[in-house]
Amino acid sequence: MKQALEQIKATAEQALHACTDLKELDAIRVKFLGKKGELTSILKQMGKLSPEERPVIGQLANQIRGDIEQDITTRMAEIKQAEMERQLKAEKIDVTLPGQKFQMGKKHPLTAVLDEIKDIFLGMGFDIAAGPEVETDYYNFEALNLPKNHPARDTQDTFYITDNILLRTQTSPVQIRVMENKKPPIRVIAPGRVYRADAVDATHSPLFHQIEGLVVDKNVTMADLKGTLEIFVKKLYGEESVVRFRPHHFPFTEPSAELDVQCFSCKGEGCRLCKGEGWIEILGCGMVHPKVLQNCGIDPEEYSGFAFGMGLERVVMRRYNIDDLRMFFENDMRFLTQF
Ligand code: DAH
Repeated sequence: MKQALEQIKATAEQALHACTDLKELDAIRVKFLGKKGELTSILKQMGKLSPEERPVIGQLANQIRGDIEQDITTRMAEIKQAEMERQLKAEKIDVTLPGQKFQMGKKHPLTAVLDEIKDIFLGMGFDIAAGPEVETDYYNFEALNLPKNHPARDTQDTFYITDNILLRTQTSPVQIRVMENKKPPIRVIAPGRVYRADAVDATHSPLFHQIEGLVVDKNVTMADLKGTLEIFVKKLYGEESVVRFRPHHFPFTEPSAELDVQCFSCKGEGCRLCKGEGWIEILGCGMVHPKVLQNCGIDPEEYSGFAFGMGLERVVMRRYNIDDLRMFFENDMRFLTQF
């Protein structure tokens, strides 16, 4: 019996030594120390022993049980330690690895320049107004002194939705909406999308952006228009910019003008950029037509005003020397990351 006990101890030790995980370890514990385990089955035979042998074997059995228990505890600690080391190794983070680079988004050139233009006008006390892109014939044309069959309507190829509803061809209808809703003094700019049924090429797009301006108050004169727009151009293109006003015609202003900036490239000599003109046109403007004021319930005897409208794409193209308008809408990263 003594031999059998020692044999159990030896096999248990061997099994423990070979064991590498906790599940296996528990199986060994059950096998040797469990209720139906090897040690228990030996002890069950204690009855067969002589009274002298019993305490000796009993003591030995207890000692072996204690030893095996001790060995299991030690082995458990070793396995747990090894397990943890394995995990730590697997989860190791190399803090010396270079970080992943990600590309920061930035403002589209149209947005960046529009923000600048807004800032310039906000600085001069203007508010920002907006109107719908789907307009009625009345706001886009009629109220702006462009009655049906007016020849100037043909110059703006219009996307009609019905006979009476259209995509606005200009931001000028916002003038009408502002004047209908607010009594003077009025000082607003209205940036937004406009639509014209033009074929796409380097200078045309069926969708583009305009910035409308409107000032209405008592005693507003052409001098206010010239002063305001000259300050605007100098802030946008630099103090050294030279401007000129050239007579023009718009149905909603009288008198009307176009504002030209002296070509930055040739300083008026005439070059490719200005197509030999020496000047580059940047906006249309004029004194608000008395009929337009009247259409909005503003008395032209009491109030006067000036208005202007410019194409955003053109302004940005001039600013950055971009020669193809399609670049703005193609979302090519090689183009966009340059600004
Ligand atoms: N709406 C005109 C256009 O699309 C631009 C314009 C010219 C607006 C003169 C104005 C203005 O307010 O006074 O061509």
